[in-house]
Formats: sequence, C-alpha cells, structure tokens
Amino acid sequence: MSAGKHPHTIERYRVSTRINHWIVAISFVLAVLSGMSLFHPALFPLSAIFGGGPWTRILHPFIGLLMVVAFVLLALRMWRDNLFVANDRVWMRNVRKVLDNDDEDLPPAGRFNAGQKVLFWALIVFLLALLLSGLVIWRAYFSAFFPIGVLRLSSVVHALFGLLLACAIIVHVYAAFWVKGSLGAMTEGKVTYGWAYRHHRQWFRDVISGRRAPD
Ligand code: HEM
Repeated sequence: MSAGKHPHTIERYRVSTRINHWIVAISFVLAVLSGMSLFHPALFPLSAIFGGGPWTRILHPFIGLLMVVAFVLLALRMWRDNLFVANDRVWMRNVRKVLDNDDEDLPPAGRFNAGQKVLFWALIVFLLALLLSGLVIWRAYFSAFFPIGVLRLSSVVHALFGLLLACAIIVHVYAAFWVKGSLGAMTEGKVTYGWAYRHHRQWFRDVISGRRAPD
C-alpha cells in the first residue's frame, strides 16, 4: 500500500514534486514583488528587496523564466490527472454545495477536483501569455525586434495577465488553507485517509485498491 510511515496516511506528493512546487511558489512571490515595483512609482520602494531599481529590472525577467520553467516541469507531472471527466461537469454545477461544505452527494473526485483542474489550465494560459508578452518587452535581448505598437500592446497584456495570475494564486492559497489537511499534502507529502476519502474519494479508492501507484 502507498501509505507513509503512519498506517493511516497516503502519500499525495513525492518529495521531488514538493520541491518543484515550492520553487514555483517562491519564484512567483519574487516575480510579483519585483513586477509590482516596476509597475508603479508608488510601489518602487519594493525594489530595495532586490538591490535597487537596476537590479530589479535585470532580475525580474530571469525570475519569471525560472517560474515558467519550474511550472512546466510541475505540469508535466500533473497534466494527466487534470484531464476533465464527465463527473467534473456535475461538480461544477454544484460548486455552491462545495463552498457550503455540503458536497456529500457529489460524484467522487479523482486526484484533483474540477475546480483544481480549471485552475491548472488557467495557469497554463496565464503563464503562456506572460511568457510571450514578457519576451517581447525584455529590452536587453528581444525588444529591438518588435515595432513600438507591439511593445505597447505587450506591456498591457503583461500587466493584465500578471494581475490575473495573482488573483488565481490568491484563490489557490485560500483553498489550500481553507481545506484543512491540504497544506500537509504539499509540506510533508501525506494526507490522512479521512482527508482523501472526504475530498478525493475516487483517487482514495484507486490508491487503496492498488489500481494506481503512489504519487
Ligand atoms: C504561494 C503560496 C502557495 C501555497 C501556500 C500553495 C499550496 C498548495 C497546496 C497545499 C497544494 C496541494 C493541494 C492538493 O493536493 O489538493 C498545492 C497544489 C498545487 N499548486 Fe500550489 N501553492 C502556492 C503557490 C502556487 C503557485 C504560485 C502555483 C503555480 C503558478 C501553484 C500551483 C499548484 C498546482 C498546479 C498544484 C496541484 C493541485 C492543485 O491545483 O491544487 N501553487 N499548492
């Protein structure tokens, strides 16, 4: 069985996945702080964290690239479990019940529920838009290849998707704290039988019956 040392826990994320996730999370926070300091003069004091304005401008694109590369590696581990299945539509229609903690009669969720799947694919779209627009406005290497109109449009797209990504991650972090036991999945790698049964019943059944290998 895929239980950890404690007999009533299941391994949800192996250590390499957790390290991968936290590299994404830390680079996200640094990208947001450096990006905000470049966005508006009122936020410029944040650049002190990175050694001043010039350093912030140099580092921000590299931090962003690190986040994207680390996210691609994380996504390669997770995309299969994020494919939509018929039950996800029922989950989406009943999302109100999920928020009210009244989701007992909903169809069992797999490793990820429909909300997590929507977030996963939204993150891919947001990060792709940030990457492409970010490369265009990266003065040191690429901006010279594009006309001024494209640079202006890319600046707006970059700011817009940065905001959308930040909003998505606020929802993600809220859910991580709100669903008790989730943080342990990403810190220690384990969840209790109760957590797995309550929130991801199909995944729980598959792991317990040996139909799928531990993650
Ligand atoms: C900044 C603080 C963050 C915290 C506290 C956090 C916390 C967590 C937790 C607890 C899980 C496990 C959820 C579960 O197994 O059901 C998780 C999963 C995940 N995280 Fe994060 N995370 C953070 C940032 C990020 C960022 C910046 C990204 C991507 C840009 C990200 C992408 C993911 C993905 C794709 C998963 C897989 C399952 C899911 O979508 O919930 N996380 N995170």
